[in-house]
Amino acid sequence: MPPVIVAIDGPSGSGKSSVSKGVATRLGFEYLDTGAMYRAVTWWALDNRVSTEEIAGRLGECAIISGTDPEAPFVTVNAVDVSEAIRSPEVTAAVSRYSAIPEVRTMLVEMQREAAGNAGTGLVAEGRDLGTVVFPNANLKVYLTADVQARAQRRAAENAERGHDADVADAHESLSARDAADSGRAVSPLQIAPDAVEVDATFMTLPEVIDHVTKLALEHS
Ligand code: DC
Repeated sequence: MPPVIVAIDGPSGSGKSSVSKGVATRLGFEYLDTGAMYRAVTWWALDNRVSTEEIAGRLGECAIISGTDPEAPFVTVNAVDVSEAIRSPEVTAAVSRYSAIPEVRTMLVEMQREAAGNAGTGLVAEGRDLGTVVFPNANLKVYLTADVQARAQRRAAENAERGHDADVADAHESLSARDAADSGRAVSPLQIAPDAVEVDATFMTLPEVIDHVTKLALEHS
């Protein structure tokens, strides 16, 4: 039996990571945070002063490994664990520019499909283009959203936990800018797959969303 694929897409701060990890844990599936992969490439580019013009020719220098255990996710670049470093404001500000480069996407999409091929019973993968581009035949596609104010509040609370800027207005501004960049780019923009189930989490608690998506995944497996 090929692994069951659950593709969860949606804008920044919609709760994709917590929901995806929770669903993967409940189902005993592996988990893939594709945003972390785009962040890892961006971290490497900033650390090595590789511009968006140069990066296509230098991707061979950037070896990324993503852990797929939903209870202990990690990402390494050239064997350095960058799981925390990729959440810095500098990476967050630059990631939309680097993730818009076609060669970056081609490399990471290939790795994402490879991870799916190696997943045992199933994989919950989260990102922006999983239902539309990476896994067009996913068993279940979810488009998870929440209104921008709810997402900004959540992101500011996460930032506070990490010791970064916890201002809700700043989070609102940065999320709106990233929404526009991620939705407006030419290659693989954030879009709702026609066969995706839309879940609006604005007025739902995290356990409610996990429950709902787990039930959908069981129905679609
Ligand atoms: O989910 P996140 O905020 O960690 O994602 C970081 C960035 O990576 C986001 O601005 C858009 C990009 N991204 C993408 O282009 N395609 C994906 N499948 C996942 C993320």
